[in-house]
Amino acid sequence: MGDAKRQFVDRLFTTIAPRYDWFNRLASCGLDQRWRRQAVREGCLAPGMRVLDVCTGTGDLALLCACRLQDQGVVIGSDYNVVMLDGARRKHPSSNNAVRWVRADAQALPFRSERFDRVIIGFSTRNLSDLRTGCAEMVRVLKPGGRLMILETGRPSNPMVRAGYRLFLMTMARGIGWLLTGRLWPFTYLAQSVKRFLTPSQMVELLTACGTSARYRPLSFGLASLYLADKR
Ligand SMILES: C[S@@+](CC[C@H](N)C(=O)[O-])C[C@H]1O[C@@H](n2cnc3c(N)ncnc32)[C@H](O)[C@@H]1O
Repeated sequence: MGDAKRQFVDRLFTTIAPRYDWFNRLASCGLDQRWRRQAVREGCLAPGMRVLDVCTGTGDLALLCACRLQDQGVVIGSDYNVVMLDGARRKHPSSNNAVRWVRADAQALPFRSERFDRVIIGFSTRNLSDLRTGCAEMVRVLKPGGRLMILETGRPSNPMVRAGYRLFLMTMARGIGWLLTGRLWPFTYLAQSVKRFLTPSQMVELLTACGTSARYRPLSFGLASLYLADKR
């Protein structure tokens, strides 16, 4: 099941990669970049830090981190999908040392333990075939006292807002995806994966079990979720 899901997710992102950024901006009415900026701000990054952006995709979070570090420090963006990584490289070639792009599976990160001051992951935890292993890996490569920031699509606590949000994902967001790529199945999966994902309290419990002090911040009335987990 694990490998099958990873292959499916890889095929999905290969299919939508050329239109991924457009889909994000349109389907979130531009809120996605605001949420990424907030996640990076809450990371309290400082020049000189080493930062890992897991499942970097087309690199938006990694580039925001590099901006925050004012190119003093190291940012690595890692992802399994080569087409998504190509999109990141087009935005910023690894020609200077400030940002590097690395092909890696989030569930078996090719980095030494306690290597990074900050680890960040955006809109990707729900795509991992083994979420527990993925979280444990991200905590492993973090220095003690370092912070993991997890940005994910949200689960509004208000039942009316939640119902409206799910309806939006199954109709408007899928429609936007179809218009951009001519395919419906990737966006059906993405909408369903939001619904199936852990609740905020389950996610905090998992991060605590991985050895962090974790807390949850709803963004934009819960349309997005931010988890801040400090390694003990
Ligand atoms: C929804 S995109 C998120 C991209 C980016 N973080 C952002 O903020 O837009 C999910 C990304 O996770 C990657 N991904 C999914 N499973 C992965 C895994 N097991 N290892 C590494 N990358 C993975 C996909 O290739 C894809 O680029």
